[in-house]
Amino acid sequence: MVEIDRPRSAERIERDIETLAGARFTARADAICRYAYIDVYSNTLRYLTDELERLGFRVGYDPVGTLVARNRPSGEPAFGVGSHCDSNRSGGKYDGTMGVVAALEVCRLNHELGLGLSIQLISFFEEEGSGFGQMLLGSRIMAQRVSEEDLHERIRAIDDGRTFWEHAEDAGFEPSRWRESRQILDGLVGWIEMHIEQGRVLQDTGCRIGVVTAIAGYVHADLTVTGRADHAGATPMDFRMDPGVVAGEAIVELERLARVAGGGTVGTVGEIRFTPGIINVVPGEARFSVDVRGVDQDAFGGVAGEIRRFTEESARRRGMQASFAERQVLPATTMDQALVAAVEAAAGRTAEPYRIMHSGAAHVTMCVAPSVPSAMVFVPCKDGISHSPLEAASPADAALATEIILNAIQSWLSASRA
Ligand code: HGY
Ligand code: MN
Ligand code: MN
Repeated sequence: MVEIDRPRSAERIERDIETLAGARFTARADAICRYAYIDVYSNTLRYLTDELERLGFRVGYDPVGTLVARNRPSGEPAFGVGSHCDSNRSGGKYDGTMGVVAALEVCRLNHELGLGLSIQLISFFEEEGSGFGQMLLGSRIMAQRVSEEDLHERIRAIDDGRTFWEHAEDAGFEPSRWRESRQILDGLVGWIEMHIEQGRVLQDTGCRIGVVTAIAGYVHADLTVTGRADHAGATPMDFRMDPGVVAGEAIVELERLARVAGGGTVGTVGEIRFTPGIINVVPGEARFSVDVRGVDQDAFGGVAGEIRRFTEESARRRGMQASFAERQVLPATTMDQALVAAVEAAAGRTAEPYRIMHSGAAHVTMCVAPSVPSAMVFVPCKDGISHSPLEAASPADAALATEIILNAIQSWLSASRA
């Protein structure tokens, strides 16, 4: 069992995270904001590349921008570590980035301690969807869970409406070779992603480590209700076709449906837009997003279908039309039991408090797990706050997670060679 100098690893992890919270690495001064192809995101990848090349890693990219670094020739079996370093548009320092930095620390320790582990670090492109409104875009491309038509036409940049394809080409990547992205998992015998919990279970139960057994699946969709724009003052209530009222009823209904579904099912309307969106105009159109998640596939899938029917019926009753467009669906994903056991054994040997749990948040590991034995290690984040500049987590917990991951990799690789 490897025992690392945790305070030193915590210090390096903290230095990396604080550096990556600096002005060169975020488009906002009041939050972390970095996403596909913008300069602050490229600077972040450059920083990671410099650190990895210092350790003798060869750093490259898949055809769309996922960073892949290896300390052994490709094709040779290796163990995968990593996460994502893009952020929510009003994000915190730790979501994703702490996982990539912990993976970098695993690479540093492997090098310094002469453990000789074959490692591949992956920082997946566009996990948050802040560039194109498509969560897990890079890892779904790798898992071939998108179509060429999506990439060429349907998926468009939030900033300028141009297609993903155009942006990828402008950034010097080769989207026409997107299918080759699946090769980045070639030769991986296992994968562990470290991530902040983004909930408050670990904090509230006094645990420093979460060993994840399953990741909640989700449905992302958009509902658009078309009514009629009218004068807000001169139009009597009985003469209105106000899609805003339908949207309001749907938001309240989604909360009820999620609660009734139980089993940890959650439902959120995070985006809403009224057109023309002016104080003295009854809106002509209301568009809102739906994010429904859970580890019970039938429960959360059922809620998505029910909120669609409810909205269509509410619109029809008021003489309006509602349309439902699915953005994406990812199934609930279980981790590899044997690798989870190796992680749990490594956690147990530290005598630090840990717990077995599932993840309510989505992670790139959902797209790795179908092809490579996968596990995740959580560390607490203060009061469960995430997707917010108020996000806070402890580099000391990340250093503990790094020691656990290193030991789990060592035992996994020696078992796979036995
Ligand atoms: O929303 C999520 O689950 C992830 O943090 N992007
Ligand atoms: Mn994340
Ligand atoms: Mn996130």
